Amino acid sequence: MTSFEEKFPSQNWELLKELAKNAKSQLSGNQKTEIVDSISPMPFEMLRDNPRFDELKKIGEEILRKNGAAAFMVAGGQGSRLGFEGPKGAFKLKLPNGEKSIFQIHAERLLELKNKYGKNIPFAIMTSPLNHQETIEHFEANFYFGLNKETVRFFEQGTMCALKPNGEPIFENPEKLALVPDGNGGCFRALSKSKTLAWFKELGIKFVFLYGVDNVLAKPCDPAFLGAFADSGKAAASKVVKKKSPEEKMGVFALKNGLPTVIEYTELPQNRIKEFDGGNIVAHLFTIESLEKLENEPLPWHLAVKKICGVEGAFKFEQFLFDAFPKLGSMFLAGVEREKEFAPVKNASGEDSPQTAVDLLTST
Ligand code: UTP
Repeated sequence: MTSFEEKFPSQNWELLKELAKNAKSQLSGNQKTEIVDSISPMPFEMLRDNPRFDELKKIGEEILRKNGAAAFMVAGGQGSRLGFEGPKGAFKLKLPNGEKSIFQIHAERLLELKNKYGKNIPFAIMTSPLNHQETIEHFEANFYFGLNKETVRFFEQGTMCALKPNGEPIFENPEKLALVPDGNGGCFRALSKSKTLAWFKELGIKFVFLYGVDNVLAKPCDPAFLGAFADSGKAAASKVVKKKSPEEKMGVFALKNGLPTVIEYTELPQNRIKEFDGGNIVAHLFTIESLEKLENEPLPWHLAVKKICGVEGAFKFEQFLFDAFPKLGSMFLAGVEREKEFAPVKNASGEDSPQTAVDLLTST
């Protein structure tokens, strides 16, 4: 064991060594030829067109009245494309009636549900060590936007040490490793480690709506979606939107070797892009049993090559939450209208920016 391994036992150095080795061979093109996966489209129906829509909505409403659903937001990303200092959720959008932070917009949706169905929806927010304190301070300073503080819970996701291209760890200073969030797929591990999953169970939660902080049009615990999922008996569900064009740079739901998953647009064979629709908007439902299963399921690690702490070509390893779907096997997809349910804030300007989000928010 080297001195830094002893000094920083929180990191899984064996795993990092393995990942560095794989990264190097991946980048040098020396990796063994992978088995070619068979992929096929995953069909879906629009939720609104379901002939049983009203009945399914009632099922979902009953779940909400019985306090059977919780909201779980992943907000541990670094939001580097937005370039805002601070948690993305604290970013303020300029709306016609004044400014509102992204967290406020999300909190108000939960408040609406509380007013309608009479129950506080437990709200778990995953942060990272880089934005945890600021996220809590934002809620504290704004009196939780009217939510009951007792039903809001924050917890941190894990981090991984960034590596130099030669596989050595990067240090911010001699006493501090360069740690980066371990990807939104770290949410299952963190949910369990932080005892938030146990909290959900104590509260009698049966279904958990998992969403990203970016989408300011997300409808948490939408009763029709909840009811349709409960009725489907599947292990997980996702809302999907139709792509704007076959070329749209968006991950799509598909079956890979017969199992549900999301395929990144870069991985779709160019001659088959028209076959695949069902864009991933990170609006998922899980049963509590599925989340319990996922706490111990290892997900794959993905490599990103970035400049970190001044080191060009540094390795960063992340897990993606959609890699959980094939582990669960069965899944229900519900198509929704993108203009009503998808307004991501990703970039500082142009597409998927605060301006496009405000335009969509004010036109619905
Ligand atoms: P993105 O993939 O858009 O990443 O995250 P990001 O870090 O927020 O933004 P960029 O790429 O640096 O510009 C999608 C969702 O997953 C969450 C984000 O907060 C967002 O809700 N996420 C991402 C995490 O919670 N943890 C992570 O480690 C990464």
